Amino acid sequence: MASIFLSHVWAVLKRSFHLIGSAFSTAFSFFQCSNHVLVLRGEKYGPVFRMNSFHQTMIAVHCPEATKIILMSPKYLKDPSVYKRLFNLFGKRFMGTGLITAADHDVWYRQRRIMDPAFSSTYLRGLMGTFNEMSERLMDHLEEIADTKTPTIMHDLVNCVTLDVICKVAFGVDLNFLKQTDSPFQNAVELCLRGMVLDVRDPFFAVRELIRRYSREAVELLRKTGEKWIQDRKTAIENGEDVPKDILTQILKMAGTAKDHEQMLDNFVTFFIAGQETTANQLSFAIMELGRHPEIYKRAKAEVDEILGTKRDISYEDLGKFTYLSQVLKETLRLYPTAPGTNRWLHEDMVINGLKIPGGCSVAFSAYVSQRMEKYFKDPLKFDPERFDVNAPKPYYCYYPFALGPRTCLGQVFSQMEAKVVLAKLLQRFEFSLVPGQSFDIKDTGTLRPKSGLISPNPPPPHQ
Ligand code: HEM
Repeated sequence: MASIFLSHVWAVLKRSFHLIGSAFSTAFSFFQCSNHVLVLRGEKYGPVFRMNSFHQTMIAVHCPEATKIILMSPKYLKDPSVYKRLFNLFGKRFMGTGLITAADHDVWYRQRRIMDPAFSSTYLRGLMGTFNEMSERLMDHLEEIADTKTPTIMHDLVNCVTLDVICKVAFGVDLNFLKQTDSPFQNAVELCLRGMVLDVRDPFFAVRELIRRYSREAVELLRKTGEKWIQDRKTAIENGEDVPKDILTQILKMAGTAKDHEQMLDNFVTFFIAGQETTANQLSFAIMELGRHPEIYKRAKAEVDEILGTKRDISYEDLGKFTYLSQVLKETLRLYPTAPGTNRWLHEDMVINGLKIPGGCSVAFSAYVSQRMEKYFKDPLKFDPERFDVNAPKPYYCYYPFALGPRTCLGQVFSQMEAKVVLAKLLQRFEFSLVPGQSFDIKDTGTLRPKSGLISPNPPPPHQ
């Protein structure tokens, strides 16, 4: 038996030995490597390198041409062996075959078509009121604590805003997380992600029963909440009540068979997690970098002041005028792509960067690596919003924090509208700085967030 397995491993390795990279330097594969290690490998081996985990080969690709060909084409599907890891979490169905995890083209396409209208520009315009309202809650909260001279964990606060937004606009439920202490939802998302990452990366995790139990419970909480909110909405529709045309309404359109019911819950969990966490993390990193660079902070604030003056309600038209603020947000996602990578299955041979890649292997794209390679971004560790100035050369398939092509992020515009509203209000109304000793490290829980939770002290009283 062992010899059959070893000859299979040998056969797989032989096919890709001509590619540089690590064969058994990674008994643990691509997934087990930290993003930092992957950047070092990218710098050492170049834009295409191989990684093996026993009988599996994964090719890391950071070559713009191949990125364009593979990600932009619908014929290269997501690698099912990668995304099936998110189907269940410790025996509990997690993201199943929802929009992010569906690898099969038809299963994915049906859902994407149903969900698209909830992200049309007309619909998104209508969300400005909610973005303003939920951000105002944060401003009120900050005003309350402004005089107390207490440092504030900004990451937790922006997390409450993005949770409030997704619950309200996606599911029609107003939870006001800033007023809640110890809501299980806030921890649930982090626990799911933490469990997911440990499950994939840490070979000794199997024995950590406690974290497994917490992650399982978190998944259960999200799915049970989904069950209830879906049922409430169905009842409201049956009673002839006026219901919003939101994400939940679209999710309900998937109903039909029992299989569809599970898929509705998959998408509930998908939107609960994808629709909130990554934007909160982006905001935290942006606040961190603004606190670190007073001149960038000043310029962003000057722009906001010029556009908004003292007015409270930010309009859709205002968003288009925040040129520099957009650059700040784009540069934030360059250095900190909060959802750092994606995978595709290469079903046929391909030549990438002059190297023959055998068909039948997984191709990994890391925005984190690409966006930190000196080859594509000069002085890559420097936070420099000028890279996204209208006159600067456009990055060519080496900048993709929202992925690219047909499987690009559905919530890209939504998230950046929300991020601009929160950040513009913060700049308009408060002055903030980082506490001494603020860590700039990144915590990798599958998505990236600032390690320290971002402590920002004493917002002084508002100017107006
Ligand atoms: C800064 C914020 C965000 C970032 C950086 C981000 C990034 C990404 C990335 C990289 C993917 C591709 C994942 C993969 O290939 O495995 C993705 C997919 C997705 N995102 Fe986002 N996302 C953000 C916000 C949002 C929001 C706010 C929503 C919903 C309200 C959302 C919904 C989705 C969905 C549904 C998909 C799957 C799309 C498909 O395959 O058809 N995202 N996102």
